Amino acid sequence: MEMQWLFYSDTNARADMLEECLEKRDYKLKRVTYLDRLFDHLKKDPNVVLLIKANKVYNVYQLCEELSAKYPHLHIVLMIPDNMENAKKAMKAGASNTIRFSADKDEIREMIVHAEKNIQHRMRQADVTGIPLIAIDQRVVSISSTKGGAGRSSVTVNLAAALAEQGQRVAVLDGDIQFGDTAMYLNLKPKKTIYEWVKEGDNRAELDIDQFMTKHDSGVSILAAPSRPEFFEMITAADIQYAIEELKNIYQVILIDNTAAISEVQLQCLKASDEILVLSNGELPCVRNTRLYFDTLESLQLSHKAKLVHNRSGKKGAIDPKKMEEVIGASIFASLSEQEAIVSGSIQEGVPYVTSHPRKPVAKDMKALAAKLMAGTEEKEQKAEKKKKKMMAKAQ
Ligand SMILES: Nc1ncnc2c1ncn2[C@@H]1O[C@H](COP(=O)(O)OP(=O)(O)OP(=O)(O)O)[C@@H](O)[C@H]1O
Ligand SMILES: [Mg+2]
Repeated sequence: MEMQWLFYSDTNARADMLEECLEKRDYKLKRVTYLDRLFDHLKKDPNVVLLIKANKVYNVYQLCEELSAKYPHLHIVLMIPDNMENAKKAMKAGASNTIRFSADKDEIREMIVHAEKNIQHRMRQADVTGIPLIAIDQRVVSISSTKGGAGRSSVTVNLAAALAEQGQRVAVLDGDIQFGDTAMYLNLKPKKTIYEWVKEGDNRAELDIDQFMTKHDSGVSILAAPSRPEFFEMITAADIQYAIEELKNIYQVILIDNTAAISEVQLQCLKASDEILVLSNGELPCVRNTRLYFDTLESLQLSHKAKLVHNRSGKKGAIDPKKMEEVIGASIFASLSEQEAIVSGSIQEGVPYVTSHPRKPVAKDMKALAAKLMAGTEEKEQKAEKKKKKMMAKAQ
């Protein structure tokens, strides 16, 4: 049976005997010392046994409670000092089993068999209901427009910062692989980019894409465009597809700062996206072009993903939003206020306005857009949860 065995300890503790016992049954123990990396593993595989021996940073019971609530499919085994064993407290915290620090080989073997049985049992349950055990909450969102200068990059980085502030793990992919400059909007100078990731591609399966990303203080990570425009030829649509898949293993939300033209790479970005935010300001040429973009998405059978975002709303001389909706043939999903000084100042300084000017209308609009985008995910998760509970009740 495919099972993953993780050992989380924040104290670099060893687990030699445990490793030995698992090896005898053809399992490999993976040690994890950072919580972030632990979450990455937990998102990927439904058949995980997690052994926790943590005491430095987090209270072990509290950590267990949080993890079991967030990942109900997990089989958690708490490793507890001999004189402090408290099985009742552990079970209350959502642990499936406990084991003493000084456990001998027999006890460890017993713990392994118990975990195997429990996971097998859960797998059978999953088959009855036909509902996957992991709730996948990732989102890939493209930020597009037909005209350059419509606000794609500033919207991308501010939406990313707003989502990070709401607790999401956010990645930004610079979709303009030739002239992309999204990193500059966060005042970042990437050392590595998508180009290096592609170049070292022969053994990419073992490379962690996170090493090629540049981190911002807000928590947002960016996979930047190549440092030289001529490098773009190296990057294919298949690379982009692979990069997005890899990012999905680590991040909850992936935002793609797209270009106006729809090349093969762009098309791949759009296809991989769950949502496409189409930016339009109220100027007539832009609005007309946006209509064409919606038509193009329709012919590509992607129009169901498109959401119209009215940028620079309230700008003098722009057409009425109602008229805009009529011309484009779509309703406005969200509006972002016209705030020239704030937005251009934020671009120049490389600091998202949601961070530097959180109370300004455009920042509030952006936070509302972030919340509205994620509300869809929550609804979906709640529905899936309800359905699961109903099926479980029927099965009993
Ligand atoms: N809500 C807004 N209010 C006022 N000005 C805005 C707003 N959004 C964007 N702008 C202005 O529009 C200009 C272009 O913004 P941005 O660079 O984000 O667009 P872009 O679509 O990424 O452009 P490019 O085609 O160069 O990639 C900037 O000068 C910015 O100040
Ligand atoms: Mg841009």
